[in-house]
Amino acid sequence: MLTIDARDRIMVALDCDRSEALALGDALSGHARWVKIGMTLFYAEGPQIVRAFKERGFKVFLDLKLHDIPHQVRGAAKSAALAGADLMTVHGLGSSAMLAAARAGVEDAAPELGYRPQLIAVTVLTSMDPSALAEIGVSRSIPEEAAALAKLAQNAGCDGIVCSPQEASEMRALLGEDALIVTPGVRPAGAALGDQSRVATPASAVASGASHLVVGRPITQAQDPVEAFEAIVAELEQES
Ligand code: C5P
Repeated sequence: MLTIDARDRIMVALDCDRSEALALGDALSGHARWVKIGMTLFYAEGPQIVRAFKERGFKVFLDLKLHDIPHQVRGAAKSAALAGADLMTVHGLGSSAMLAAARAGVEDAAPELGYRPQLIAVTVLTSMDPSALAEIGVSRSIPEEAAALAKLAQNAGCDGIVCSPQEASEMRALLGEDALIVTPGVRPAGAALGDQSRVATPASAVASGASHLVVGRPITQAQDPVEAFEAIVAELEQES
């Protein structure tokens, strides 16, 4: 199993506007090491929002879920890497050719960067239920489909996957001890669930096999985001 410092496991999801995101970044500087930037913030602000967090010393998980023809995805992965993304998502449904193109894109950027950013695949979106899968012609069950796409992604050169904490142990067994397994839907005991239903505590997500935890509102909407972040660190350190 990967040995990871608790502070390196927590990715703070900044699902807000630029000024709020930067204020949170300033508050969490010296505490959090990772931020997650999603489509809403990225499409509003562009690559410079990634650079703004890199300049503040954060690692950036850029969650754009790339899904296009291989040529386009290769270029997008390279551009995201050069913008400063340390980790990015690609859609598992794009086929092994597209997943391999994403890997080639981050490799293309590596000589200029001096490191290779990591790549993880999204399998089945948690917003999809069996009828949504049937609608797009998928007859496998959700767990079967997620496992098949996870293995496809790994074989095509992805470093890991995103999944719910409930699937983490199965994915860990499937993908091996070195894979990145990033889980959203993490809620410290007593935190508001918001719109998340299948949740786990930080410690139990890690115990199930998660390497990294995406935590948004329990930190960003806390009265004291630093205190909320540090409480999660303490929980993880206590369990390790
Ligand atoms: O605020 P909260 O902790 O629920 O934020 C979770 C983050 O993880 C959000 O950025 C959300 O878009 C993302 N996410 C998720 N469920 C998934 C994939 C990503 O909640 N299946």
